[in-house]
Parts: sequence; structure tokens; C-alpha cells
Amino acid sequence: MSRLYTFFGKPALFSLDAETAHGLSIMALQLGLHPRIAANPDPRLAVSIAGLEFPNPLGMAAGYDKNGEVPNALLKMGFGHAEIGTVTPRPQPGNPKPRIFRLQSDQGVINRLGFNSKGHEQARANLLSRTDKSGIVGINLGANKTSTDFAADYVSGIHKFADLATYFTVNISSPNTPGLRALQKADQLSDLLQQVGEARKIEAAKQGRSIPLFLKIAPDLEDPELDDIAEALTKSDAEALIVSNTTLARDGLTSVNRDEVGGLSGKPLFERSTVVLAKMRLRLPSDFPLIGVGGIHNADTAFAKIEAGASLIQLYSGLIYQGPELPGAILNGLRKRCDAEKLTSISQVVGRSAQDWAKIKPS
Ligand SMILES: Cc1cc2nc3c(=O)[nH]c(=O)nc-3n(C[C@H](O)[C@H](O)[C@H](O)COP(=O)(O)O)c2cc1C
Repeated sequence: MSRLYTFFGKPALFSLDAETAHGLSIMALQLGLHPRIAANPDPRLAVSIAGLEFPNPLGMAAGYDKNGEVPNALLKMGFGHAEIGTVTPRPQPGNPKPRIFRLQSDQGVINRLGFNSKGHEQARANLLSRTDKSGIVGINLGANKTSTDFAADYVSGIHKFADLATYFTVNISSPNTPGLRALQKADQLSDLLQQVGEARKIEAAKQGRSIPLFLKIAPDLEDPELDDIAEALTKSDAEALIVSNTTLARDGLTSVNRDEVGGLSGKPLFERSTVVLAKMRLRLPSDFPLIGVGGIHNADTAFAKIEAGASLIQLYSGLIYQGPELPGAILNGLRKRCDAEKLTSISQVVGRSAQDWAKIKPS
């Protein structure tokens, strides 16, 4: 962890309510107060999936930059891609505050934000104002809480952002919007993917390029549900699966905030999300890419996710505890692993430990 963050930034931010600290960190990035790391420090870290060339496997997970205010700063910090959102069609405030809680002794976070979003129009305006429009910026789509047709909300996101998104993520795994996770059930999922697929076809014709579609799932699914998702995915035109969103599980926590309602992320999510990742690696064709998220907080956990089956990885909570130097530290660590194992590409180790991980019963 960087000394500057440890001794000055972190104590100052941790003395504030978590959501206020988050707002300040966004302002800092808008002001350019962040480290600058080359996103492609080493050709061995480059990853090609879904027809896109990622300079390195590490991305910023959704939820940090919900309205697309700082994707360029995130890309300058070393992230190979930035996923903005979740964005809902209409602006909505989300749940009452406080709604983000640090679990310091566990190095976890519980949030029940409930898709606070400034809506499609504002996110579009923010993305249009990017001075430099290069780099991979994914748009994570969601549904309004009061929507009577969730699928229509995702479809409207595809049409709204087709000219701006490098890829789309359909997020059906937030625990904080009632009914949303039900979209993971076989019938509803197939129907949703079909409707989104139709919209993508229309936009591909208009834009002259197909915009890759990723699906993001929860880590709280049983094996038969994972079977259903794998089947629905192979029948759809989705191009990658993100595993995972936050968990409703609360095992082994010690922090005072452990009983807050919401989704848990950070270190306590690492094992659970990695097991589900590995299970999906074994269920899906080997050329179907997975993106591993949940509890990555250093190069070892990043590398373990890749070995469990992830072609790309993302993080959020680790940044809160380790600070803005974390992406650079992880990329450095991954390069060292490439040296130690004489890899010509990080992709060579994707999934080599999937069998072992899939056997673990998360505690
Ligand atoms: C405060 C907070 C807000 C989040 N908001 C979203 C969101 O809007 N959409 C989404 O797909 N995931 C959201 N997530 C989940 C993260 O993208 C990620 O899947 C999860 O936190 C696990 O990664 P981590 O352990 O590295 O944080 C959020 C996470 C946190 C901590």
C-alpha cells in the first residue's frame, strides 16, 4: 500500500462516512489527483476477448463511477478497462442514507445503495464530454426500481449508449433492487437475453459494429441455477460472464457493521466468488471468457482469480482499503508471476486451477 495513502489519505477518508469519502475520491480523480501508471506495461498482460484488445486484465468494477464521471482518470491509474454504472434509464435516488458501510476488521464493505443513478441522459452527457474517448469503457445497465418491465429498461440502455459503449454489461445481480435477481432464473434470463440480443442486432446494423455483451451474476446461486445460466448463455449471443456481484452471505465476519442489510464485497467475498467463477469455468465452453470479480486486493488474489478461470479481473473494495496505487501494484505483481513461470502470455494460466476451486465449499 502506498505510504501517502496509508498515512494521510486513508485516515482522512476513513474519518468520514463511506459515501462522503467516495464522493471526495471522485472529486480527487476529476482534479487529476491520482497516480499515473501505463495501462500496458508489458505485452504479456494484454488480453483479447470478445473482439476487444484489453491492454491488461485488470478493470475497475461497476459501482465506483456510477454516472461515468471519471473513466479517463481510472484508465490513467492503470486499469485496462473501466466499467461505469450501473446506470438506470430514469434518475433515481436509491435507498435512504447511510447505505455504505465499511467492515474494517474484515476488509469488507456492505452496500445497499439500490442503484442510485443520475439516469441515462446524464451518463450520456458525461461520456460525451470525455476529452479523450480512447480506452475501453464498458457500460453496466440496470433497471429502475419502479419499472414495470425490467427487460425494457435494459433494451433502452442498449439503444441509448450504442455509440458510446465499448461493451455492455447486463447487471441482473444487485441484491438491492427487489425482484432484479429473479432475472437470473432460466426462463426470465433467456427472455431477457433474447430481447437484449434483438436490440444489439438493430444497433450493430446502425453503428456498423457489434457491441459485445457481458452478463453479471450473483455469487449466491446453487449448482442447478448455475447450470441454467450456463445453458441460457450458450444459447444467447452474450460474449462474456462477470462473476460476481456482492453476496448476501455473512459468514465469519467480525466487524460491528456485519449485520447491516445489503451486499457484501471485499476480502470476505473472495473465496465464495472464486468458487462460483471456477464452477462456471467448468460449465461453459473453454473459449467463453469469464471476468472474475470479488475480493481482489493484491497480486496474489488477482493471479488466483485468473487461475480459477478469469480471462479478465475487476475490483472495487480493494481500492478503498489499499488506495489508488493498487492497480499499479497488481500489474507489477502479475508481471513478476509471468517472469517466475516463464509465461509468454498471462492467458496461459486461465482456468488451470478451476477443478480445485470448484470443489471448495465456501465457509
Ligand atoms: C459501494 C458499491 C457499489 C456497487 N455498485 C454496483 C453497481 O452499481 N453495479 C454493479 O454491477 N456492481 C456494483 N457493485 C459490485 C462491484 O462491482 C463488485 O462486483 C463487487 O463489489 C465485488 O468486487 P470487490 O470485492 O472487488 O468489491 C458495487 C460494489 C460496491 C462496494
